Amino acid sequence: TNYEYIQVDQEESIGIIRLNRPKVLNALNRKMVSEIVQSMREMDRNDSVRVIVLYGNGKSFAAGADITEMAQDDSIHLELLNQFAEWDDLAHIKKPIIGAVHGFALGGGFELALVCDLLFASEDAKFGFPEINLAVMPGAGGTQRLTKLMGKTKALEWLWSGEMMTAETAEAWGIINRRYPQEILVEETLKYARNLANKPALSVRFIKEAVYKAVDYSLYEGMQYERKNFSLLFSSDDQKEGMKAFVEKRKPNFKGR
Ligand code: HXC
Repeated sequence: TNYEYIQVDQEESIGIIRLNRPKVLNALNRKMVSEIVQSMREMDRNDSVRVIVLYGNGKSFAAGADITEMAQDDSIHLELLNQFAEWDDLAHIKKPIIGAVHGFALGGGFELALVCDLLFASEDAKFGFPEINLAVMPGAGGTQRLTKLMGKTKALEWLWSGEMMTAETAEAWGIINRRYPQEILVEETLKYARNLANKPALSVRFIKEAVYKAVDYSLYEGMQYERKNFSLLFSSDDQKEGMKAFVEKRKPNFKGR
């Protein structure tokens, strides 16, 4: 597929999506969001892709939704546009998504980062929700996902101030997994992705599903869900192979099925 605002590649079993509007710090216009969603859905259905990696070309991950595109919008137009339905699709991707953030991840850019399952960042990365300074607020999950990560007290402080947090702060609050010098960020992210890609794919998938239930559901409901996924894995060839290999004291040969 030919995309206008992103670049898509595959290196072995890693699907790579690069945001590609570097002149405007990868400001996310609506077509770009559609392209991200479309490419992720294709990768999700492509058996040869095991892990998706997302990062930005140029100086930044993404400095927010494209302000020029929405400056004249009115509420009815936004309601009818229903643009956030596409963002919901991102939350339904079953394969692991790892984001690598350098430079700015602001507003919609931060929201896109928060959709990733794991986040690696460069030491100079800056995260924030400056929407308040434009007299608006996050609309693609920012108030919800940040609050689930930090708790309401800290989340309100960041959302009301509009200030940017450093990678160090983001790491301390569990928003990102790891920090690296910028020169090795992508390389380290890909290294991590390759390792994850070699794990039994169905376990990776069902663990992701179950963990997000912990975010959304009560403990009781989440555990019912976990139990179903646990049982379901015993229908896979990989489960038979994994346990047989253990008993036979050899390395397993996983097929992803
Ligand atoms: C459109 C943007 C942009 C954005 C940067 N640019 N962010 N264009 N939308 N969100 C453009 C600038 O206009 C400029 O274009 C070029 O990118 C380089 O940016 P500079 O401002 O010159 O760079 P710098 O001085 O380094 O400042 C970087 C910055 C600043 C601090 C990140 O660009 C900034 O404050 N950007 C806006 C951040 C923001 O408010 N984001 C939230 C948007 S609201 P020219 O043509 O002048 O070179 C939002 C709502 C989400 O995200 C709703 C759900 C999707």
